[in-house]
Amino acid sequence: MSDTPSHDKPSTNSQWGGRFTEATDAFVQRFTASVNFDQRFAHQDIQGSIAHATMLSKVGVLTEQEKNDIITALNAIKDDIDAGKFEWSVALEDVHMNIESELTKRIGITGKKLHTGRSRNDQVATDIRLYMRDQIDLIAAEITRLQQGILSVAERYASTIMPGFTHLQTAQPVTFGHHLMAWYEMLTRDYGRLIDCRTRMNQSPLGAAALAGTTYPIDRSLTAELLGFEHPTRNSLDSVSDRDFGIEFCGFAALLLTHMSRMSEELILWTSAQFDFIDLPDRFCTGSSIMPQKKNPDVPELVRGKTGRVNGHLVSLLTLMKSQPLAYNKDNQEDKEPLFDTVDTVKDCLRAFADMIPAITPKAQSMRSAAMQGFATATDLADYLVCKGIPFRDAHEIVGKSVAFGLETGKDLSEMTLEELQQFSDVIDGDVFDVLTLEGSVAARDHIGGTAPRQVLLAVEAARTDLQSR
Ligand code: ARG
Repeated sequence: MSDTPSHDKPSTNSQWGGRFTEATDAFVQRFTASVNFDQRFAHQDIQGSIAHATMLSKVGVLTEQEKNDIITALNAIKDDIDAGKFEWSVALEDVHMNIESELTKRIGITGKKLHTGRSRNDQVATDIRLYMRDQIDLIAAEITRLQQGILSVAERYASTIMPGFTHLQTAQPVTFGHHLMAWYEMLTRDYGRLIDCRTRMNQSPLGAAALAGTTYPIDRSLTAELLGFEHPTRNSLDSVSDRDFGIEFCGFAALLLTHMSRMSEELILWTSAQFDFIDLPDRFCTGSSIMPQKKNPDVPELVRGKTGRVNGHLVSLLTLMKSQPLAYNKDNQEDKEPLFDTVDTVKDCLRAFADMIPAITPKAQSMRSAAMQGFATATDLADYLVCKGIPFRDAHEIVGKSVAFGLETGKDLSEMTLEELQQFSDVIDGDVFDVLTLEGSVAARDHIGGTAPRQVLLAVEAARTDLQSR
């Protein structure tokens, strides 16, 4: 058998040109090519090919020598790619055909045997899973780093008091540590979603071939094991067609970024002159070319903005998958750019936050005076009256009148004299000031999930134990 077909015909694609009578239109070639972006998972493509070749030799489809030649050449190609010496060709369409064609160039007919019992359809489904799994591990580690940063700040400022808000109106005093631990909880759920997604993704589609499986005596469990997958996928049609794992990843990412946009929004508000709650180090901010006094919180603003593209990618992938009939369709080539951009954006945003969060410092005095402004301990006064036997609705009324008096006289509840408070109810005693102070208010919320400094420290400790078992 010769390497080149003997009959005369116009030059067509060397990988699948057998049944074609003319070459692909030059524009169509560029339009259908994916090599400019899928070369990103060249490593995973080679990893998958090495596992496939190893399996083929185990089952006797390739000789030991052929397998060794293939693996040696693939590793050399990988080194060339890493060194930037590999020439990618759009004419060879995608990462798979570029590498396979180079393999054949290097080792001749043996290279052509690698694709036995395999199709680009199961190959690409394998490569994306391997790539996404690697990226998920990096992203998971970065979420953990951010959470560790949050814990250190929450612990340091477990008893620093700030106003808590509902409707962005002062509601009740909370501790800064408690507020940060709310962020921590959001990220814990995001982390869980990411790990769930990894578990469902971690199955090997290799062996599904084009769509129906293959006639060769392949060992799918072996390739699954060699590639670190839990087990082979269970249906060949499904294996080569569904990209739900990518959608799931984008769903995770959209929620993560949505959470980070909420954190960003708070950081932006807090650094404004109107709130003045925290200081962001200069290295995370930029100035204005025209207003010399400006220090802008660009990092959180950009993270808030990047939430838009990540949410967009989720919708892109959902729409891409919608109504696709089984099995593989070329549509699926469009999964890569949204996925890659999501990976890059998530990694960048997490990195920026993990670096920045440990460096934020609260302005305790400023937070304190803000907490003193909106009658934040009004609920505490009502609870105090209820403890003294007043029905809650009456207590509500009494406190309402006290607040009106405070508005008139410019005094917070804790700044009124005992006599002033007693004009609204004679059950009020000197002990009322224990609950009207900011410290008394937060310390009283001393139960699981409450804002008391003691609870914040317990939550930090429990969180540290959780992180250790990841
Ligand atoms: N570049 C293709 C993709 O990303 C690889 C699979 C091509 N398969 C095919 N039958 N054309 O989806």
